Amino acid sequence: MIFYFTGTGNSLYTAKQLANQNESVINITDALKTEQFYYSLEEGESVGFIFPIYYWGLPTVMEEFLDKLKISNYKNPYTYAVCTCGQNIGDTMQILKKSLQSKNYHLDSGFSVPFLDNYILLYDIVSKEEQQKKLLEADKVLSHIKSVIHKKEKGVFDIEKGKLPGFFSYVVHQLYVHGRDTKKFYAMDTCIGCGKCEKICPVNSIQMVNQKPEWHGKCTQCLGCIHRCPVKAIQYGTKTQDRGRYTNPNVNL
Ligand SMILES: Cc1cc2nc3c(=O)[nH]c(=O)nc-3n(C[C@H](O)[C@H](O)[C@H](O)COP(=O)(O)O)c2cc1C
Repeated sequence: MIFYFTGTGNSLYTAKQLANQNESVINITDALKTEQFYYSLEEGESVGFIFPIYYWGLPTVMEEFLDKLKISNYKNPYTYAVCTCGQNIGDTMQILKKSLQSKNYHLDSGFSVPFLDNYILLYDIVSKEEQQKKLLEADKVLSHIKSVIHKKEKGVFDIEKGKLPGFFSYVVHQLYVHGRDTKKFYAMDTCIGCGKCEKICPVNSIQMVNQKPEWHGKCTQCLGCIHRCPVKAIQYGTKTQDRGRYTNPNVNL
C-alpha cells in the first residue's frame, strides 16, 4: 500500500513507478478531503510513504495525515519512505521515523529523489532541457529504489541530507510551519473561472467567488494552484508572473 502526496506530480510519478501491480495507491489529498484515515493491510503487504520535501521537512498535510492515520493488520510489514525534492531533505527521514514510531509503526528504509525544485515563490523553474536531464537522472534513482524495496531490504537510507541538516529541518522549517499565508495569492483577469484550483487545493483554502478564486487562511504551499492553472492566471506577489510553471510531464494529474 502506497500513500502519496503531490502538488505538481513528481511524487505521483514516483508512486506509480514503485507500485506493484494491483497495489493500492492512496492519494493523501483525497484521503484528507473524504476523511479516509482507516486502512487495512493484506498479509505480506508493504507500506510506502511518498511525498515532496517542504523547507527540509514534512508538508503540513503529511503531518496531519500521519497524525490521523490508522493501519490495521500492521504486523511488522516492510515500511519505507521516499521524499522527492529539488536538492536535499535535511533530517526529514529521522523526523518521519520518530513520527511513525510514536504510533507504533516503523521505518525500514528511506530514500530521497532529486527531481526539480517547483518552489517558484523563490526560484524560477529550470529550462526544458534541464528538466529533461533531471527527470532522466530521477529515473535512474527510482530504478535503484525499486530494486531495494521489491527485495524488502532493510536499513537502506539513501538520502541526500545537505549541509547542516538539523538546522534546516528544525530551525528553518519553522519559517514554513508558521508562514504559509495565502494573502499574496491572486488570479489575474485572464482567469477563466474553471474552478480547478478550488477543486485541487488539498486544504480547501480556495473558494470560487463570482467565478474567481479567493484564498483564505493558510495553505500547505503545494503550489498546485499556481502550477496547474490551465491559463497561468494565478500569481503570488510580484515575482511569479515572469517565472515558469511545472508539472511532471509523465503523469496525468
Ligand atoms: C513550499 C516548498 C518548499 C520546498 N522545499 C524544498 C526543500 O527544502 N528542499 C528541496 O530539495 N526541495 C524543496 N522543494 C521542492 C520540492 O520538494 C520538489 O520540487 C518536489 O519534487 C515536488 O513534488 P511534487 O511534484 O510531488 O509536488 C520545495 C517545494 C515547495 C513547494
